[in-house]
Amino acid sequence: HFHSPTEQPLKGKNVLISAGPTREIIDPVRYFSNRSTGKMGFAMAEAAANMGADVTLVSGPVDLSPPRGVHLVEVTTAKDMYEAVLAKFEGADIVVKSAAVADYRPKEVHKEKMKKQDGNLIIEFERTKDILMELGKRKNGQYLIGFAAETSNIGEYAKGKLERKRADMIVANNVSEEGSGFGTDTNKVTIVTEDGIRELPMLSKSKVAEEILLEALRRMDS
Ligand code: CTP
Ligand code: CA
Repeated sequence: HFHSPTEQPLKGKNVLISAGPTREIIDPVRYFSNRSTGKMGFAMAEAAANMGADVTLVSGPVDLSPPRGVHLVEVTTAKDMYEAVLAKFEGADIVVKSAAVADYRPKEVHKEKMKKQDGNLIIEFERTKDILMELGKRKNGQYLIGFAAETSNIGEYAKGKLERKRADMIVANNVSEEGSGFGTDTNKVTIVTEDGIRELPMLSKSKVAEEILLEALRRMDS
C-alpha cells in the first residue's frame, strides 16, 4: 500500500471504473453474456484506491468482493451499466472502461420462460449503446481509458478504437494468448495513446493496473 503523499498520487481524484460482463436477458431463466470475470477491473479499482483515489466501481455480475474503500454499484445489463456510468461521469477525473459490455442484446425480453419446440431457435439481437463512445462525445476534462479485447491485429484495432471513441488511452490485450485475458491473474497489455504504443511485459493484473494509472497520470500532468 501507498502511504506518503508522493505515494498517493491520486489523492483528491475521483476515479470511475467499470468492470465485469453484462448479462442481456432472454427470458426469466436465460441470458446472453461473455467470459469476463471482472479481475482486471477490480484490480484497477484496488490500485486506484491504494494510490489515494475516491473510487466508484460499476460492475456487472462477478464473483469478487470489492476492494476496501471502493464504492460498488452493481448492475446487470448493458443498459443498467450505461445509466450508472453516465450518472457518475460528470464528477470523474479518470474513467476506466474495463467492462466487457455486450455489443448486442435480445431484441425481445420474454416475460415467461421460453418453451422448447421442434427445429432450430432463432433469436434476433439488437445493438446496445457504446458507453465508451458516448463518454468520448461528452467528455470535458475527464481522462478516458478504454480497454480492447482482441484476438489478432491488436495494435491496429486498438488505434482504431482510440480514434473512433475519442478515448485518451486504449489498453489492448490479446485474449487468446496464454496467461492473458479472461479469468487469469496475469495480463500482457499494449498501451495505445495518440503518441504511440507501449508494450508491457506479462505482469500481475495488480501491477498492470498500477502501470496504467501511472501512465495516465504522467499524461494528464503534461
Ligand atoms: N464498450 C462500451 N460499450 C459497449 C461496447 C464496448 O463502453 N457497448 C467499451 C469497452 O468497455 C471497452 C471498449 O469499448 O473499453 C472496447 O471494447 P471492445 O469490445 O474491445 O470493442 P468494440 O468497440 O465493442 O468492438 P469489437 O467488439 O467489435 O471489437
Ligand atoms: Ca465489443
